[in-house]
Amino acid sequence: MLDPTEENLRLAADALREGKLVALPTETVYGLGADAFNPRALARVFEAKNRPHFDPLIVHVATVEAVDRVADLEALGSSGASRARALMEAFWPGPLTLILPKRPEVPDLATSALPSVAVRLPAHPVARRLIELSTGAVAAPSANPFGYLSPTRAAHVADQLGERVDFIMDGGRCPVGVESTVLDLTVDPPLVLRPGGLSVDRLEALLGTVEVFDRSTTSPKAPGQLPSHYAPRARLKLVPAGALPLCDPSPGAVALCFDAASEARLRAEAPGLFARAFVLSPSGDLVEAAAELFETLHSLDASGVAEIWAERVPDAGLGRAVNDRLYKASEK
Ligand code: TXA
Ligand code: MG
Repeated sequence: MLDPTEENLRLAADALREGKLVALPTETVYGLGADAFNPRALARVFEAKNRPHFDPLIVHVATVEAVDRVADLEALGSSGASRARALMEAFWPGPLTLILPKRPEVPDLATSALPSVAVRLPAHPVARRLIELSTGAVAAPSANPFGYLSPTRAAHVADQLGERVDFIMDGGRCPVGVESTVLDLTVDPPLVLRPGGLSVDRLEALLGTVEVFDRSTTSPKAPGQLPSHYAPRARLKLVPAGALPLCDPSPGAVALCFDAASEARLRAEAPGLFARAFVLSPSGDLVEAAAELFETLHSLDASGVAEIWAERVPDAGLGRAVNDRLYKASEK
């Protein structure tokens, strides 16, 4: 585990150039980084995470110019390319991943042999400096074993992947707390494959029409769309907003309320129903709820809670990403 001093960043960047794995903080969650141009390093990422090879990685860059080394924007046509550039201008650095036509220099292992590549310019200064000092393109999935919750602190990475990574850069807690929004620009209209840290409303404000992947009508294209993903060890039951007082929990189960009002209602209507109640955002702020979600689930897992009952949050802004992750974590 390294503090992000310039000296340590150089050490970690050299390690990346040598094909080693470096876990790095981003504003969304911690990533498990490898040189995007090195197939052997990429293979180690899949091995370390126990991740199936059909699940492609996100390539992280430190500048907009570096996108051209991994993606071919012109293959989108002139209006598609200008749409992609407008999105980068508006939302990068930040929690938006763009699916773009790939350049042949990107190894098939990074993209699961798809003709497209996922690209993101993260906002975290530690990630950006590390990428800049390395080859300029770092492939990084979330730094968790496949199927488990994404890490929002360096200690989560150490607990989950420990010996399987060469260095962990400790950049503190990830401020956004849920993964990036994944937007496919190889289709028209653009399609949100995974709701995340950038709200769909903000994409719509720039693009007009955006489609959002609907798992009830479409079969998964990205494994992030598989329903059983991002799950804690505890059993998680997802119920409609306001329904927690009506639940039938096992002894010792805890409740995960959206806001203080919902917790107050639970206490008034069903005192003692749950062993404890946790609140994602006392004031009902969806940005705070997103930031607290994995944090809370990680700490509940660490405390050995076996059953969590969570209520859905409002389906607006980052609430979409929160509901998506709660759904994926839940028992179906
Ligand atoms: O916030 C994030 O996106 C974090 C940080 C580390 O940047 N990364 C992350 O990576 O969440 P990962 O690998 O856990 O999720 C990447 C998602 C997966 O759902 C993957 O299937 C999808 O992006 N993806 C990657 N390349 C794709 C492609 N060419 N076409 C469609 N989906 C793709
Ligand atoms: Mg992941």
